[in-house]
Amino acid sequence: MEILAKGGNAFDAAVAVSAALAVVEPYSSGIGGGGFWLLHRASDGYNTMVDGREYAPAAATPGMYQDKGGNVIPGDSLNGPLSAAIPGEVAALVYINKHYGRLSLAGDLAPAIRLARDGFPLDRMFHGMLASREQKLKQWPAAWAVFYPHGRVPATGFILKQPDLAHTLELIAQQGEAGFYQGWLARQMVDAVRAAGGIWSLADLRDYRVKERQPLVGEYHGMRIISAPPPSSGGIVLLEALNILSGYDLGHDSDLMRKHLIIEAMRYAYRDRAEYLGDPDFVKMPLSRLLSPYYAAGLRAGILPDKATPSSMLAPVMDSGPESHHTTHISILDADGNRVAATFTVNFRFGSGFMPPGTGVILNDEMDDFVSKPGVPNGFGLVGNSANAIAPRKRPLSSMTPTFLENPRGLAILGTPGGGRIISMVLLGTLDYFNGGDAASIVSLPRYHMQYLPDVVFYEPGAFTPNDIIGLEKMGYRLHELAPYGNMQAITWDYKTGKVTAASDPRDIGKAEVR
Ligand code: DON
Repeated sequence: MEILAKGGNAFDAAVAVSAALAVVEPYSSGIGGGGFWLLHRASDGYNTMVDGREYAPAAATPGMYQDKGGNVIPGDSLNGPLSAAIPGEVAALVYINKHYGRLSLAGDLAPAIRLARDGFPLDRMFHGMLASREQKLKQWPAAWAVFYPHGRVPATGFILKQPDLAHTLELIAQQGEAGFYQGWLARQMVDAVRAAGGIWSLADLRDYRVKERQPLVGEYHGMRIISAPPPSSGGIVLLEALNILSGYDLGHDSDLMRKHLIIEAMRYAYRDRAEYLGDPDFVKMPLSRLLSPYYAAGLRAGILPDKATPSSMLAPVMDSGPESHHTTHISILDADGNRVAATFTVNFRFGSGFMPPGTGVILNDEMDDFVSKPGVPNGFGLVGNSANAIAPRKRPLSSMTPTFLENPRGLAILGTPGGGRIISMVLLGTLDYFNGGDAASIVSLPRYHMQYLPDVVFYEPGAFTPNDIIGLEKMGYRLHELAPYGNMQAITWDYKTGKVTAASDPRDIGKAEVR
C-alpha cells in the first residue's frame, strides 16, 4: 500500500512485498530462495511469467544424494549448504523492477531495508517456526545468532533486527543484481557454502539468469486460466485436471460424485507430473498432448463412476503435519488493472537452515524438489523420474501455481504455498470461482488432495461429510485426515458491480486489504 501510494504500480508493490517477506517471514521465502512471478500488464493485456527459480550448481550430479549402495541419504537434500540451489529471487526482483516497475529499485527495496535494520515485533507464527526449527538452526552459527539472539527462542513481541540482511539488501539496492551475484557478497556466500561442505562456485552465481516465460493458457467452460508453465508443474497439472473435469456436468452431479471425479482428475494429472515434467531447458515434454482435450477424454474413459482407480503402486502414507508455513504467495491488483500472482520460497521451513556468516541470508533447500532417485519420494512425498533428475544448472520441478482466472463475470488472482498440495488447492479454488465463489470463499473452502502416489486421499476436517467418507471408502479410497493446510491469498473483481474482494487464508496470519 505504501508503494502504491508513492506512485508505484502492482509490479513495484510485488517487488517490495517479496523483499519485505524475506525479512519478516524468512522461514517461507527470501533472497536465498526463488519463485515465480506471474504478471499481467493492463495497458496491452500482456501476460508473462518471470521465472526466478533456483538452478543446481554446476558441480551437481544425479546421484549426489545417494550413498555408494545407491540408497538416498535422508536429509542431505534438505539440510545444510549441500541442499541449497543457486538463488533466483534477487535476479527476479531486479528484473521486474527494471522492466515493469515505475519506481527505482532502491525505492522498492526501502521498506524491506527498514524492517531489517529497525526490526519488527516477532509474531506468533515466526515464534512457532523458531521453536520448531531450533535443532536445525543450532547447527549453523550465523543463523543461530540472528534468530536466537539470547541463545533461545525469542518471545512474541521481541523486536527482531537483522543488520546483516539490511546491509545485503542495501548492496542490492545500490548495485542491482551485481550486488548479490558478484563481488563481496557472492564471495562470502561461496566461501561459506564450500567451507561447510557445499559445492557452489562463483561462476554459478555470476551465470544465473532469470527467464521470462510465456504463461500457460487454458479454458474451462468459457473461463480462461492463465498459470505457471514449466519448470513449475502447476499450470500443466491444473489444466490437465480441469480438462478431465470439463467432460462432466459437475454442477448436476451429487456432492459425493463430484468429489470422486475431482480426486480422480487429481490422480491422473499428478501421475503425469511424476512421469513427464522437469525443466523445459533440459527435457522434452509432451505438453501439447498433456493439454489436449482428446488426451483428457481418453483419461476420462478410465474413470469409473463408482470406484476409486488404484494408483499402480502403493507407497506408505506420508506423515504430513501442517505444511503451510514455508513458502509464500502474494496477489496484487492495482488501480490500472495490473496484476501479480507470485509464489516464492526457500522450500522447507528456513530452507537449508544455512546462513553464510555476515550476509543475513538463509539459503534454500530447493535441491529436494529434484528426484534424488527414480521412484523415491521427496520431502513432499512426490515421485518422479529422469525428467526431473539433477543436472548442472537445471531448475528443479516446482508445484508453485500462481494463477489468473478470467471469465465474463470478472477475474480472480490466486495462489498458495503447500508443496505438492499447492496444485490441488488452486484446482479447488478455480472450481469454486467458476461456481460463483469470491476471494473469501476461495481461500477458506475446506481442502482435499490426491497426488497419485501415495494412493491416499488427504483431507482437512470438514472437507468430507460423514456420508462422503462412507461413500468414498466404499468406492475403494484410502482416506487420511490432515490438520488444516495451505495459506491462499486471493483477489476477485466482479465486473458488473465493480466490487473487488481480497482475502487472506483464515488458516494463517496474512492480511488482505482493498483501498
Ligand atoms: O517449488 C515447490 O513446489 C516447493 N519448493 C514449494 C514448497 C512449499 O510450498 C512449502 N510449503 N508449504
